[in-house]
Amino acid sequence: MSDKLVQVTENTGVVRLTLNRPEALNALNSALLKELNEVLIDLEGRKNLRAVLITGAGKKSFVAGADISEMRDKTPDEARAFAGQALATVKRLEQLPVPVVAMVNGYCLGGGCELALACDWAIASDNAIFGQPEVNLGVIPGFGGTQRLPRRVGPAMALDLIITGRKIDAAEALRIGLVNRVVPVGKLEVAAAELTQQFVMNGRQAIRDAKRAIHDGMKQDLDSALALETSLFAQEFASEEQREGMGAFVEKRKPNF
Ligand code: CAA
Repeated sequence: MSDKLVQVTENTGVVRLTLNRPEALNALNSALLKELNEVLIDLEGRKNLRAVLITGAGKKSFVAGADISEMRDKTPDEARAFAGQALATVKRLEQLPVPVVAMVNGYCLGGGCELALACDWAIASDNAIFGQPEVNLGVIPGFGGTQRLPRRVGPAMALDLIITGRKIDAAEALRIGLVNRVVPVGKLEVAAAELTQQFVMNGRQAIRDAKRAIHDGMKQDLDSALALETSLFAQEFASEEQREGMGAFVEKRKPNF
């Protein structure tokens, strides 16, 4: 493995990103965020991309937050720039046109939880620990947590987590809808690989449209969001994928997307 801060491996269109600062529990500093942003720009242009899996190096941590040592002496302007860099990177991840899966292998705190919230799916090991402990450091979440967390788990639970800063285990994260699945620690890799295989069998355009309808629709009033859905649904009837998917059903065979 290379000494890059973001290691990239690929297997038939499924790209795995490993955030690689295990000595700091993969805390997000500006160098790592810069590298992640560059990797994501590269992925945006890839035609054969099927899914992205993001995880942390080592057994102990997904990401233990933004790098506190780096943030400690920042001025307000520097803090704004740091948050801006992270928000742009996280948004890039969220807007990839393929399923993005967080494979949470341990601590998932602060900016790490905010990164996982930008993923479409989260699978966690049963020893994972989640939280937004920023209030303990005298700040609020700055990488999107005050907005994506309430959208994911509801405002009451988001307030509970953010104003107490308490840490929750994987079982509670599953119960409140912060993650989709929890598996024994030794099964995380296999379970994540099986999951991504389910995604890669499905139509790429339909997945891209589903992400767009949900993400963009959540920002709109209901009628506008339903109009967006209708527009995407209608356009799909001009696609190869729709012909193949419905044709395969009628011909009683598996679709080949
Ligand atoms: N930033 C920088 N370094 C970090 C870090 C972080 N967020 N989290 C862990 N580290 C470093 C530690 O300083 C330590 O480094 P040294 O060996 O050089 O001392 C190393 O990682 C290992 O950590 P610990 O010795 O603390 O490991 P532990 O098992 O005793 O504790 C932990 C693990 C509970 C996760 C603890 O490290 C911890 O509380 N980390 C900070 C968690 C946190 O507050 N995250 C939020 C950050 S703020 C944020 O994210 C703001 C935002 O929204 C953008």
